[in-house]
Amino acid sequence: MNLLAGKRIVLGVSGGIAAYKAVEVCRLLVDAGAHVMPVLTGGATRFVGRATFDALASERARMSLFDEEDPIPHTTLGQTADCVVVAPATARVIGSYAAGISSDLLTATLVATRAPVVVCPAMHTEMWEHPAVAANIATLVGRGVHIVGPESGHLAGGDEGAGRLSPPANIAAAVNRVLEARRQPSDMDGLSVVVTAGGTREPIDPVRYIGNRSSGKQGHALADEAVSRGAQVTIVTTVDRPAPPGAAVVRVDTAAQMAEATAAAAAGADVVVMAAAVADFRPVAPVGVKLKKRDGAPAVHLEPTPDILAALGASKPPGQILVGFAAETCDLVRNAAAKLRDKGADYIVANDVTAQGAGFACETNEVLVLSSDGRVHSIGLRSKRQVAQAVLDLVVADRVAQTAQQENQ
Ligand code: PMT
Repeated sequence: MNLLAGKRIVLGVSGGIAAYKAVEVCRLLVDAGAHVMPVLTGGATRFVGRATFDALASERARMSLFDEEDPIPHTTLGQTADCVVVAPATARVIGSYAAGISSDLLTATLVATRAPVVVCPAMHTEMWEHPAVAANIATLVGRGVHIVGPESGHLAGGDEGAGRLSPPANIAAAVNRVLEARRQPSDMDGLSVVVTAGGTREPIDPVRYIGNRSSGKQGHALADEAVSRGAQVTIVTTVDRPAPPGAAVVRVDTAAQMAEATAAAAAGADVVVMAAAVADFRPVAPVGVKLKKRDGAPAVHLEPTPDILAALGASKPPGQILVGFAAETCDLVRNAAAKLRDKGADYIVANDVTAQGAGFACETNEVLVLSSDGRVHSIGLRSKRQVAQAVLDLVVADRVAQTAQQENQ
């Protein structure tokens, strides 16, 4: 599970030849969605440029205890960090940290933080095996500091032995593990969730299509909410909106592509939520070249698209919870109840897309959730994220009831 997403990580880099590998550590953490704040020692900049970290990290690299923008950068960094990782950590930095000496921004940040700390030593074998370094490492381990590596292999100057920095991927994985160990359990932990979002586009010719006004906001809000509650999420989407870090994203355009991607993802899923606005009809024979105005108005013959939700309802594995949406302009409850029945869903989230602040493209929504056991939940006008929260609360309550039932059997 990716726990780096959204976490504030101080990346301390001290002066050793392995400092160049810290660039890759920075990139891996940023790619995983972490907010990375680099802190370089003077020695680090002998080996790797500050501009590299400025460009790659989430904030400019810091080096000094005395910063014009922030009068006390070490406490700001230390107090706001979810984790501090030092890679590479030299014998000097390890010794200062063990002794509580805060003579530069990195060591001051280490002393000023209560966040978990991951130290990744890298130095020559003679230094690594020196009793003073070994004692300092033992002191840090005794205080709960996580030590990653070093490994054996090639060292600077053509030497071989223990002291090589752990591979960047191992360091990023170690930071993730440390965050995982401190994480509070969440109510969608371990659940696999598929969400569809956006409106499909059914081509008429290479430049024109039949589409709809879905922005993908409601579907993406569901994916964001599910990820934040610990689920493994696959989002099948037609829009370019940012997906939550850690989610698997499948980009599609047409109903047929969405049907294929959703069927594949839904096979092993615990929960499937069809928030996408799927076109009901598509041109039978899209033409391969742009239709010319001079040829007059074309006759576009339509055929039904695959009904993705109905197909999922018909082949629903035991225990899976299937949530559909209904975009209506009149008779909200009656139309939604018919969709609930016809499509074999466990829930239909019905929105009147003509209501003020509800439906397509806006930031808010107002829905009725009809469940297959006859309950109707009203979720008044609120943000799409809050609607997502309320819908997933119902799903989670169902899962809890299912589990309790299984345990009683
Ligand atoms: O994306 P936003 O701008 O945030 O807007 C949100 C929304 C209005 C798109 C969303 O809240 C919503 O209502 N989504 C469903 C839109 C829709 O296609 O409704 P429908 O009543 O036509 O379809 C009913 C259900 O069947 C839906 O779950 C739909 O995904 C599914 N369907 C429809 C047609 C089809 N061929 N296959 C399907 O699976």
